[in-house]
Amino acid sequence: MDRSQIFDIAHRRHPIAAPVAPERLRDLLSWLSPPASGGAVDLGCGEGEWLQELLLAQPELTGVGIDHMLPTTAAERTAQRGLDDRVRWIEADASTWSDGLFDVVLCVGASHAFGGLEDMLTAVRRHLRPGGQALIGDTIWEGTPSTAALTALDASPEDFPNLAGLVWATREHGFEPSYGHTSTLAEWDDYEFTWTGSVVDWALREAPTTADRDQALTVAREHRDAWLGGWRRQLGFATLVLHDVSIPSAG
Ligand SMILES: C[S@@+](CC[C@H](N)C(=O)[O-])C[C@H]1O[C@@H](n2cnc3c(N)ncnc32)[C@H](O)[C@@H]1O
Repeated sequence: MDRSQIFDIAHRRHPIAAPVAPERLRDLLSWLSPPASGGAVDLGCGEGEWLQELLLAQPELTGVGIDHMLPTTAAERTAQRGLDDRVRWIEADASTWSDGLFDVVLCVGASHAFGGLEDMLTAVRRHLRPGGQALIGDTIWEGTPSTAALTALDASPEDFPNLAGLVWATREHGFEPSYGHTSTLAEWDDYEFTWTGSVVDWALREAPTTADRDQALTVAREHRDAWLGGWRRQLGFATLVLHDVSIPSAG
């Protein structure tokens, strides 16, 4: 099994691949106000939960979801929700894909696709219609990271900003943040327990071979140990709603 198969199993019960509860996701999306028949793009969409919930809330909006390893569940959930005719899923590298401008750009948990926060913000702007809105989510440090957190994540302190640094970076790119959300410890614990629990359940109840079972259990145990002994209470996650203010507003 490759890592992407295990990643899909890990998100079976948590289609949002970020430590964000479904009701918080809907709160955040409610701050977006695109034109009724506008368009949205989701860069690094995964199962496309952000885009699908946005389309459910905005009945005439259309959307495009971009992921370099698009899970089949994205299209399945779209069909179940009757959104087939309003969304296109495209398997592509989000760092090079391009197809016009969008009223809303979503990019949650996928800054690594662009090489980090700064390049992600540049990419968001490249796809955004002037005066449009973006919703971005990225990891932050909750404080000065411990050695255990840095080791578990194979990271350095400079790899992520704190919340203030994230907000400042968006302003330097010509955005004004409006609403924002920082993931709570309960959201993190739910996300990580669901991740590891789904892999353990699959290993013990569904794995077709002993080798698959052992591999999945090893991945779950390593992930759980790294979370509990490393990044728990250290790594944060912030989601921000951004307005493009790079051009002067009319009037
Ligand atoms: C942590 S997941 C977030 C998924 C989704 N935005 C969400 O919040 O549920 C990151 C996603 O980025 C995708 N990704 C990583 N590198 C990418 C690239 N170069 N182009 C497109 N997608 C990429 C991964 O396949 C994965 O689905």
